[in-house]
Formats: sequence, structure tokens, C-alpha cells
Amino acid sequence: MSTTPSYAAHSSQSPLAHHLISRRSVGAKDVQIAIEYCGVCHTDIHHSRNDWGRANYPMVPGHEIVGKVTALGANAGHLKIGQQVAVGCFVNACRTCSSCQADMEQYCLNGFTATYNSPTKDPGGFTYGGYSKNIVVDQHFVLKIPDGLDPAGAAPLLCAGITTYSPLMHWGVKPGMTVGVIGLGGLGHMGVKLSHAMGAKTVMITSSANKAADAKRLGADAVLISSDAAAMQAMANQFDFLLNTIPVAHDFNQYMPLLKVDGTMCIVGAIGPTGELNSGPLIFGRRSVAGSLVGGIKETQDMLDFCGKHNITSDIELIKIIEINQAYERMIKSDVKYRFVIDMSSLS
Ligand SMILES: NC(=O)c1ccc[n+]([C@@H]2O[C@H](COP(=O)([O-])OP(=O)(O)OC[C@H]3O[C@@H](n4cnc5c(N)ncnc54)[C@H](OP(=O)(O)O)[C@@H]3O)[C@@H](O)[C@H]2O)c1
Ligand SMILES: [Zn+2]
Ligand SMILES: [Zn+2]
Repeated sequence: MSTTPSYAAHSSQSPLAHHLISRRSVGAKDVQIAIEYCGVCHTDIHHSRNDWGRANYPMVPGHEIVGKVTALGANAGHLKIGQQVAVGCFVNACRTCSSCQADMEQYCLNGFTATYNSPTKDPGGFTYGGYSKNIVVDQHFVLKIPDGLDPAGAAPLLCAGITTYSPLMHWGVKPGMTVGVIGLGGLGHMGVKLSHAMGAKTVMITSSANKAADAKRLGADAVLISSDAAAMQAMANQFDFLLNTIPVAHDFNQYMPLLKVDGTMCIVGAIGPTGELNSGPLIFGRRSVAGSLVGGIKETQDMLDFCGKHNITSDIELIKIIEINQAYERMIKSDVKYRFVIDMSSLS
């Protein structure tokens, strides 16, 4: 067992603050990682403020982790000391159920162990995430960062990247298709970059008119302002696929008419119940509403390799750990371009 500094929430109302945690000893299958960078996901805010009613305190958020290997168990020999590696949203799963066998650990029928706030046999009883100096993770859940990718910019790929890559792949996004990405935040800006790299006509659908120029720079072919009723009407029946990243409850029905016949809107925002779904736009157009959760380990490695090949990283604002509470407030105001990443050398 070893002790490591972290930043933790101690209640739903208290700001995150310095806190010492214990990590388990490095077992045969384990990898110990010195964390260099950790991205800040909106999920970290939902969890630390107990938006979903299942917070366990003290909570150390963070599931966009990049660092270097510092110790290896006997059965983790495919990795090397000093290698640049990463950890995403979960650190264990049963590995025997049909989902795990199909490389979809995120849908483990016995429940995966999230990188933070999940019950564990580790010290503390709940997993502690990446707002910390080091972490010990089973080798199966450790990803490799392709050479040449900036490690700080790569950190958000571990959640924002895979959460957008997985549905784009699942719904077969390719040249000739028109894709709308709703919400230009951490997930949304990765969605735009990835959809563009997959060759689809990509439209940014935003509530913030002032983000239009940025959206085009990130790879959007066009920008649609969601509050502009006439523009929304003009784009009716144009989209094969919509990726909805809005992090608050809202009216889905506003977006459904944008879909073509047989089009799908995939929800990735973890927003809980969100009003009534009007059957009209679904049945007049055989449209679908779906959801998607991050991606499996194999798919996450595929995504990292795709990003390596296309030189895709996140547009980040690098912050010190003491700026984390201010970063949360700015994210709530949709004021981040487009992912905060914590430089972990600022934590001691
Ligand atoms: N399914 C999964 O596996 C998964 C994984 C990671 C995160 N998530 C969830 O995905 C959501 C997005 O996370 P994120 O980190 O991308 O958040 P984020 O960086 O805060 O971005 C969210 C964006 O949504 C738009 N938005 C915010 N409030 C809005 C409102 N009231 N009405 C309309 N649009 C609004 C804003 O974009 P514009 O200014 O462009 O409108 C904002 O920048 C969160 O709920 C998070 O928990 C899910
Ligand atoms: Zn996340
Ligand atoms: Zn399983």
C-alpha cells in the first residue's frame, strides 16, 4: 500500500480540496502509473455534486488519465517502465459475461468498476480517480498512447474521445452522411473532429452563437444555432445521425425533425429523465432515439490509434490543481475551450 496526494470532494457542497489517499500494492497483473495529466469531464461535476444520488465521499474524480509506467507486476510484462500509458472510465469488469466477452466491458452485465466512486476491495472501499499523483490499475484496463500525440491533449480522448468515437462507429458514420453534433463542449468538440475525420459532412448544433468560428476551425462544415427556429426548420430531414452531448435535461423533440427517415439521435449526456418524448417525429420518419456509454477497452485502443493516425487531440486549457473549482464553475457556464486538463505536476 502507498499514500498519494489527491484532490477530493468531501460533500456535494464543498469545493474540492487536498486529500491523502492510499493505493493498493502492485499485484501480479497490475501497472502503477505516475499521473501526468488528467482531463476534467462534466461527469466529474455530476458525481462530485451528487447529481445522481450515488456519491461516496471523500471522492477523487478523474477518468481521463495519462501518465508513465513506474512499476509492473509479473504478468504485465507487455508494458515497459517509463512507457506513456492511459486509463479511461473504468478499471475492472467481470470479463466473463456476454458483454465483456464481446469487448464491451462498459456494458458488463455484472457491473463494471468505474475509475472513481465505485465499490472496490482497494484501500478506502471506493475507487479513487485521476485527480491524484499515481494510480494502480489492472493491465487489461491500461491503454497505450500512440507515439507523437501530445500527452496533455490526448488525456480527454480517454472519455470525451471514446464517448463520441463509439457511437459514430456504431452508427456507421462515413463519407456521404450528414452528422449533427449537439453541444460544443468537451464531448462535442471531439465529436466534430472525429466525424470530420471519418469523412462525414459535419454540422455543429450549438446554443452559443459565439462558438461558430471555432466550430468551423475544429472541422464543422456548417453551424446551426439551436435557438434560430427558421434555421432549424430549414435543416429539417437533413441528418443521418445526431450526437446529443447536452449535459442538462432538455426537450429532445426540438431536434427530432432534423433527422432523415431512419435517422438516429444518440444521447450521451447523462441527464436522467428529460420530459416527454413525442411519438410524432419518431413514427413519421421511422426515427430512433438511442443512448451510448463510453466504449470498451479494445475500441478505446482503436480510437487512440485512429487519433494517432489522424493526429487528433483535444483542444485544451491546461490548469493547475488549485484551479479545479473555478474550472467546474466555468464548465457549468459552457465557458471552456474545450476541455480543461489538470497538469498533475502542480499537485504535491
Ligand atoms: N455517455 C457517456 O458515456 C458519457 C461520457 C462522458 C460524459 N458524459 C456526459 O455527457 C455530457 C456532456 O459532457 P461534457 O464533458 O462534454 O460537458 P461540457 O464540456 O460541459 O459541454 C456541454 C455542452 O453542452 C451545451 N450546453 C450546456 N448547457 C446547455 C443547455 N442548457 N442547453 C443546451 N445546450 C447546453 C454547451 O454547448 P453549446 O454552448 O455549444 O450549446 C456545452 O458546452 C455530460 O452530461 C456528461 O456527464 C456521458
Ligand atoms: Zn467522462
Ligand atoms: Zn462482464
